[in-house]
Amino acid sequence: MEKLTMLREEGLAKIEACADLASLQQLRVLYLGKKGPIQEVMGMMKDLSKEERPAFGQQVNEMKSLLSKAIDDRRALLEAKEMNEKLEQEKIDITLDGYQPKVATMHPLNLVQQEIEDLFIGLGYTVAEGPEVELDFYNFERANIPKDHPARDMQDTFYINAEELLRTHSTAIQMRQLEKFSPQLPIKVICPGKVYRRDDDDATHSHQFTQVEGLVVGENITMSDLKGTLEFMARKMFGEKRVIRFRPSYFQFTEPSVEVDVSCHICGGKGCGVCKGTGWIEILGAGMVHPNVLKMAGYDSSKCSGFAFGAGIERIAMLKYGIDDIRHFYTNDQRFLKTFTRFE
Ligand code: DAH
Repeated sequence: MEKLTMLREEGLAKIEACADLASLQQLRVLYLGKKGPIQEVMGMMKDLSKEERPAFGQQVNEMKSLLSKAIDDRRALLEAKEMNEKLEQEKIDITLDGYQPKVATMHPLNLVQQEIEDLFIGLGYTVAEGPEVELDFYNFERANIPKDHPARDMQDTFYINAEELLRTHSTAIQMRQLEKFSPQLPIKVICPGKVYRRDDDDATHSHQFTQVEGLVVGENITMSDLKGTLEFMARKMFGEKRVIRFRPSYFQFTEPSVEVDVSCHICGGKGCGVCKGTGWIEILGAGMVHPNVLKMAGYDSSKCSGFAFGAGIERIAMLKYGIDDIRHFYTNDQRFLKTFTRFE
């Protein structure tokens, strides 16, 4: 009995002094578990006489429930304390200003590229891409620009080795598409992508920029198809009142070739600073696909014809948004990028 009293006092004192839930759990295991001092005392029961046993057993049970209740009470107290501390630490000051979430915007080049893709998808075109590290073969030879041809000097090229280069124009993708489709008709694709030239960077030049190529091949495709298509694009990009005009030009991969101007979207054609007083702005190069190009890709140029065009996306974006320096596109200045919204 003495031992029991001792155990009870000691247990109660320990529980009372216990300061955290983990050590309280250890005490529970010790006092109420299978191997604790109470079990030990229970083991003494067999040495007692039959008469003494019930009273002793009752004492042990009472002690067990006393300790168990003390532990439960202590746990409730410690849990409340822990919760209070947590609440104290995580106090929220509801008078503080909220954070303004930063919503990403579209990069202007992506905006314009997507706009062009969307309008051509609406006309039934598909969108195709190609490798930026390109073969000389697709960039030049298939475009009717043989090795050592002086026209190659017009496009200062980053060569990787004798056969590979960084493509200088999206026309390389056009050549791959011709080969891929051949001999199927019709072809209607646009091909956007980055291109590279050994240019010194300034306000209007960049050694890396973006082009989009258009290609249509079929039976009886004529220059008026080209004109109608480009006028549709010019109106979508620069406003419904725009008209376009063709000026004769020269590209190896088209015959005839044209330079395409759009009536100025700032002054409407009267003449202003943006169009340098002419009323017209040059936006792209185009033409009828050269018979040699069709033949090299495996088409019978007496049975089909096609048109193609190639536009600079930076140039269109600069005109559309009044951007005066091409380098703004590549420097990731947030103040510049933030002015373009996602849903334009
Ligand atoms: N590849 C030409 C350039 O980068 C642009 C071009 C002109 C593409 C006429 C064409 C085209 O498809 O028909 O300057």
